[in-house]
Amino acid sequence: MVRLAKLHLSCVVGIFSVALAACGDSGGNGTDSGSDSGGAEIDEDAVIDEVLGLEQGGFVTVNRSPLESVHAAERVDIWAPPSATDLYFQIDPPNYSQPVTFPVGTTLIKRHFSDAGATAGDGFTVMHKGPAGYAPETGDWWWARLAEDGSIIVSGDGTGDTELCINCHNPASAADYVMGIDAADHNAP
Ligand code: HEC
Repeated sequence: MVRLAKLHLSCVVGIFSVALAACGDSGGNGTDSGSDSGGAEIDEDAVIDEVLGLEQGGFVTVNRSPLESVHAAERVDIWAPPSATDLYFQIDPPNYSQPVTFPVGTTLIKRHFSDAGATAGDGFTVMHKGPAGYAPETGDWWWARLAEDGSIIVSGDGTGDTELCINCHNPASAADYVMGIDAADHNAP
């Protein structure tokens, strides 16, 4: 199902006030991501801008070379902000014995490729750490599958359309639901 569920900016700005009630009057295209998040919301447009600008935006790849993946892709690269790579490298799949928690605002991006040479981009999967209370049962992450142009295929708080993400990422709950990669694949200095 294709669903364009970008947040109306005016709704985001007023999120902690009663302004939410006014969003319905702003042209009818203001919509939240369908989550019952008790007031803590994600600025989806800002996250998508981060994703589309990842190569200019100071993100780095945590994998040494394109990986095979259980995600529906021939190859993937995983990008993280430099401030998050140390935490990412502490994750030790499949044991997850090392507890890890990523800071609010962290965006982790998986770049999908449809060819084994990792040249044909095929969109992204994204985890963005929302504010406390966004999705408290599942680490407050916002989950999304984006097309190559950044349009949302599915997005949400790990329920509904994005429950499948949690179903797979659950074994890594001690690592803040971040699966990590083998140490041998780390693009570590
Ligand atoms: C079939 C199981 C499975 C499903 C479904 C799944 N993931 Fe993942 N995901 C993984 C695994 C395993 C990794 C570790 C890297 C790899 O092998 O690709 C991963 C890695 C990631 C990463 C890189 C950060 C990390 O956890 O290491 C992101 C971002 C991500 N997934 C987002 C998503 C989103 C968003 C969804 C739902 C739309 C989703 N995943 C659904 C298994 C899954």
